[in-house]
Amino acid sequence: MEVKIFNTQDVQDFLRVASGLEQEGGNPRVKQIIHRVLSDLYKAIEDLNITSDEYWAGVAYLNQLGANQEAGLLSPGLGFDHYLDMRMDAEDAALGIENATPRTIEGPLYVAGAPESVGYARMDDGSDPNGHTLILHGTIFDADGKPLPNAKVEIWHANTKGFYSHFDPTGEQQAFNMRRSIITDENGQYRVRTILPAGYGCPPEGPTQQLLNQLGRHGNRPAHIHYFVSADGHRKLTTQINVAGDPYTYDDFAYATREGLVVDAVEHTDPEAIKANDVEGPFAEMVFDLKLTRLVDGVDNQVVDRPRLAV
Ligand code: DHB
Ligand code: FE
Repeated sequence: MEVKIFNTQDVQDFLRVASGLEQEGGNPRVKQIIHRVLSDLYKAIEDLNITSDEYWAGVAYLNQLGANQEAGLLSPGLGFDHYLDMRMDAEDAALGIENATPRTIEGPLYVAGAPESVGYARMDDGSDPNGHTLILHGTIFDADGKPLPNAKVEIWHANTKGFYSHFDPTGEQQAFNMRRSIITDENGQYRVRTILPAGYGCPPEGPTQQLLNQLGRHGNRPAHIHYFVSADGHRKLTTQINVAGDPYTYDDFAYATREGLVVDAVEHTDPEAIKANDVEGPFAEMVFDLKLTRLVDGVDNQVVDRPRLAV
């Protein structure tokens, strides 16, 4: 039988009580958000006639998600991260700010505290038996389009199994493997030697993949490399590049692929190029320049503060 009680005074009063709106104390913003989200969920239960069994399956699911530390993985899978980017893009458009280098999601796997160097860094420790050398370099430009020395370029990516150091279930990787901060040189350039990453897949037995299965969706990301770029007088840029040609480039479960962020990995076998780049054999090269945007009235109006692992 279908009953409709959501719009009764009883239920509406109850929502205010449960959200603390009839109480002194607490945090008004939290009350406002909880009241709205709770109301939307109560209404969904009524509209969709969600059963008690379905509801309790959801509660058990949330417990599992937390126990597996996967809330930050499900979030991009359900598009929240990309939606927040779309909102920031729209805010920028309304302010007339052009992002020559598009932003895209941070993902849940950044770790603060990576080794820092000027101009160049070797990112991998040479231990990945399937590693194919990658030389990745480019120039950071300021808001006027001039090369920007002394910008901080933080780069992180996965190994050839798609695992990130500090989050690697095999325990094979050393701390900060394939995580570096490079300060741009006097020409605004950064350069790293590393290995080509592989695409990433959600833990196959985890709760994120379990829900994606119910949606008929896969949990794969294309091979990608993350960036934070920050510099005085500029807004911090959070983005990623995708290695062109990956089967998931335009089918990313986390919806991070954007026009302008797909970069060719050009293969070099020529002995001259091998020598000039100081590598041992054939290697791939990717070139990616990034352009920053100015602070807005002296502040970074879009900097994201979120809990991050720091080592
Ligand atoms: C996820 C993993 C990533 O490497 C990433 O960049 C974004 C999201 C994830 O597991 O959700
Ligand atoms: Fe990632």
